Formats: sequence, structure tokens, C-alpha cells
Amino acid sequence: MTFTLRSAGEKIEVVDKPAELFTTPPNLGNYEAACREFSWEQARREIDWFDEDHLNAAYNAVDRHAVGWRKNKVALYWEGERGEVEKYTFRELSRLSNQLANALADIGIKKGDRVFIFLPRLPELYIAFLAILKLGAVAGTLFAAFGPEALKDRLGDSDARAVVTIPGYYERIESVRGDLPALKDVILVDTRGTDFRPKAGEHLYSKMMAEADHHFAPAVMAAEDYAFMLYTSGTTGKSKGVVHAHEAIIQEHLSAKWILDLKDDDIYWCTADPGWVTGIAYGILGTWSNGATSVIYEGRFNPREWYRIVEKYDVSVWYTAPTAIRMLMKAGPKAAADFDLSCLRHLASVGEPLNPEAIRWGLDVFGLPFHDTWWQTETGSILIANYPSIPVKLGSMGRPFPGVTASIVDDDGNEMPPGTPGHLAIKPGWPAMFRTVWHNEAKYEEYFNNDWYITGDRAYMDSEGYFWFIGRGDDVIKTAGERVGPFEVESALVDHAAVAEAGVIGKPDMMRGEIIKAFVVLATDQESSPELSEEIRVFVKKRLAGHAYPREIEFVDVLPKTQSGKIMRRVLKARELGLPVGDLSTLEAT
Ligand code: PRX
Repeated sequence: MTFTLRSAGEKIEVVDKPAELFTTPPNLGNYEAACREFSWEQARREIDWFDEDHLNAAYNAVDRHAVGWRKNKVALYWEGERGEVEKYTFRELSRLSNQLANALADIGIKKGDRVFIFLPRLPELYIAFLAILKLGAVAGTLFAAFGPEALKDRLGDSDARAVVTIPGYYERIESVRGDLPALKDVILVDTRGTDFRPKAGEHLYSKMMAEADHHFAPAVMAAEDYAFMLYTSGTTGKSKGVVHAHEAIIQEHLSAKWILDLKDDDIYWCTADPGWVTGIAYGILGTWSNGATSVIYEGRFNPREWYRIVEKYDVSVWYTAPTAIRMLMKAGPKAAADFDLSCLRHLASVGEPLNPEAIRWGLDVFGLPFHDTWWQTETGSILIANYPSIPVKLGSMGRPFPGVTASIVDDDGNEMPPGTPGHLAIKPGWPAMFRTVWHNEAKYEEYFNNDWYITGDRAYMDSEGYFWFIGRGDDVIKTAGERVGPFEVESALVDHAAVAEAGVIGKPDMMRGEIIKAFVVLATDQESSPELSEEIRVFVKKRLAGHAYPREIEFVDVLPKTQSGKIMRRVLKARELGLPVGDLSTLEAT
């Protein structure tokens, strides 16, 4: 027996979930009752506190399991890019992160210092993240794909005191180190063999660990104290440092329990990298705090490899993203049929709209629906979701998490009735909400209107309280789930000698949701050519990041601009899509 699909009125399909399909009852059995009875006070009790107001998120993620009956339970199955395998129990993770916390303290890292992690998905990435939080420092994560320019912006803006990296990535930081006066220490992870000779301010991880004690008392942190930060993109300016507090763990824990439905006998696989908030909230904090055994796969996406991982580790709960699901669909049913995937029992997705086809395909291939979840770097936790116990309406993001008030508001922040498109907004005050934009309180304030947190997404709510995504309300691009700010790409483009001006948009794409398209005005002495186009693409890719380069470049003579000289991306986009360009009254005469 499998979940079934039924039509529910015009264009809407619903996945029904009869109770007999659940081998064990869902952790959240009755959504409506949970919403009615919910209190954050009750939710706080799921977490261990040192006293009324003090906790440590990393202590909750691993240390509390390292002493009780879960101490020898596997917390992490790791499979490397070249097929290496390792496993770590909760006690081992706790001790290793204690050792590193001691070692970091020895080199002078203190509470509040920013320590960034620039690593492939190695076990040391997870150990470092935990160690930094235990020490009371603020952990920042960086995508492995970042180039020198992107690194300089992030490490510079945050005044990062230290970076944990590998010798193979360090080059990219070294090339901009002269511009990073606050960066005092670099920890080089050498556990998998290297003959790196450290200079002053550089430390070998294995040496630090060998000399460090595995006892460490985690820093006693106020609920509001900063725990981690991530740089993410908006429409204007460089990427901004979104900062989260230790108490985010309350909501990360409870949402992992109720939405991902983690139980003690589950094997859980989150495919997201911790460079992305998903890889932190549901790859480290919320999921380990539930005592879940997690699989971390270092390798890149490849359909057969992914199915192999599911089969080999007996993955039962899987959290992934729509672009990956579409790529699995493209690989065809045969690729899946070659593996025994019957271990899967619950599927969830995040990061971009989950198309109904992807849910239908999941039902066909795995006998299970993907459950869409909506949230953002800033929200720190899933805020809208499809829960195991409620029907999935195909194409909808689901319903607000108990204790969270979501609504649709107009430009003035007034609530609108069901069925009306508008800004998706959340009532501030949920525990996982970001606490500031690093060094930029004004930017933080910009998010709020009439006592609502404005998400930047457009959506509507139906009469049953399900939310439906319409699109971004701004120019932010979502390509294969990655959030890219057009300004950053435009800045990198104009750094190329041949480029005079550039305007960048997200162009709809079947596979990636959107791709980055650049409209480029060349410098007067330059001739357009396919070779130049390729050269510019590679230039941006190297400077910025592997995912943040324009897949398409169109050379144009002029760019539409406002009278004040701002590039009108909305006009570029409308032209690209063959849509009416709308009000052009502010357009500069060209
Ligand atoms: O536009 C929405 C889209 O991703 C944005 C947030 O991106 P980021 O901060 O990178 O965080 C993604 C991981 C939590 C949102 O403003 N988005 C996220 N989830 C969904 C989504 N769009 C549609 N459906 C979703 N489920």
C-alpha cells in the first residue's frame, strides 16, 4: 500500500496519508491541536539549560547525548569523495570537538570571536563547528566553491579572527590575506595527509589535536548570544552577515522532530552543505539535538551515487532540494530501480519551489511524497511546512509551524484576506530568528514593516491556511537552490577589463529553477565574441564562486537605467521573458 493522490478541485491535487501507512506514529500527530496548545515555554523544555536563561547549542547537539544511553550511538557516518568511510559516535564527536575547543582557546580565541570554516564536507567541518560554539565563539561557514573575492568580502566584513581550512583551499585565502588585518590564525586540516609546513599564524590541526585534552566545559551562553553566521545575498550591495543566537536550537530541535519526524532508529541524510543554513540547522544542530544518526556524503551530486548512499546506509529520512530531485527525475526510473530504496520512509525538500511533477515522481519511484518546507537563512528554522500527518497539497509550501504566525501583507504591512497575493510576512519573535546583520543594523531594520518581518517572497494563503509561493518580490536569484545577489555578479563582471557595465537577472530554467543571465555593455575598444563571453564567465567564476557566474551572457549596446543611473533589472527581465515592461516613467532617456 502506498500514499495516494486525488484531485481536489480545479488544478489541485492532494496526497492523502491514511494512518495505516505509518509504521510508527508521526512525532506530530495532530497539527491543529499542536497549534492550539503550543507555547514556546514548553518548547524550551526540550532543550538542556545550564540555568533559566543559559545554554549552549553545541552542548545540546552532541554533549548531552555523549553521557546518556546514546553515547555509543553512531552520530555520523561519513563517506568521502574517494569512497573512504569513517564513523563517529556521539561520545567521539563530543570529545573531538572538546579537544579542538581547547586547542582554539590555546591560540587565544575567545568568546565572540568570529571563526570561519572553509572546508569540504569532512568530519572536521562538523567537529570545528561544534568546537567553535562550545568555546562561545561565532562560527561562520563558507562554500567550498568561493573564490578569493567572495572570501575577502565575507572574512573582511566579519573581521574574522581565524579560519579552519585545508591546504588545498588555503591558496584562495592567502591571495587576499593582505586585505584581512583581523585574520590572525589559520588552522590547516591535515588529517588526510599533507606535508604542509606552517608559517607564523598557521597551525596544523593534527598537531593541535594531539596536544589537546578531551575534557572541556562548554561556554555558558545567554540565549541571545551569537552562535553562528552566514553570508547571504539581497538585491542591493554585497552579501550580508546574518547572525543567529544560541537559542535558535530550541526551534531547530522541535522542527526537526515534528517536520523531519526523526526517531531514534532513523538514519537521516541531509544533502545540504553547511555553507548553507540548511546544512547547519538540519545537518548539525536540530537533527543531532534529536539524537539522529546522520550520513554525510562528501561527493558531488550524481544520481547513481546518491541512490547507492541511500541503499548502503539504509537512509530512512531524506532532506534534499528540488533541483536535485529534478536531476534524479532526469536520470530516469531505471537509475532508481537498480537500487533497493525501500528503507526510505519520509522525504522532505527545501530551497526553491517544489513542482507537483516532482511529488508525483516521488510517489511513483519511492512510493512516498516529498514534503516541501519553506524558510530562509534569516529565519534560522523551517517556518512553513508540510507535516507527515497532514495532507500534502501539490504545489503548496504547507502551513506555518505551531507557534509561528505567517500572513500575507500589502506594501504597508496590512494583512490581506485569503486568496490575495502579497508579501509573505512573519510575526517577529520566533526563537530561531536572526538577531542582526553583522555591522549593519540599518539593513536589519529594513526587513521589518508594521511589526511584520517581510520575507521578500510573494505568496498567497488559501482558505485552509496553506501557503502558495508565487516568486521573489525582489531581484534575488535562486539558481539550483543557491541564493545569488545580482549586485555581486555585476560587480565581478565590471572588474573584467573588457566590461563597461553589466545588468544581471535570474532567467527561468527547467532544471535549475533559474540561471544567471548577464547583459553586458563592452568597453569601447572591445569586440564581442564567443571567446570573450567564455573568458568573462571563467573570470567571474574564479573570483566569486563556482555557482555564481552567468551561464548566459548577452552583449548589448545600452542598459535600461533610471534617471538616477540605477540599472533596471526588472526591464531586462521583462524583455527577456517577452512580458510587458510596465511603468517606464523613471527610465533614463537612451
Ligand atoms: O525565495 C525563497 C526560497 O529561498 C529563499 C531563501 O533562500 P536561502 O536564504 O538561501 O535559504 C534557503 C534554505 C532555507 C526564500 O526567500 N525558498 C526557500 N524554500 C522555498 C523557497 N521557495 C519556494 N518554496 C520553498 N519551499
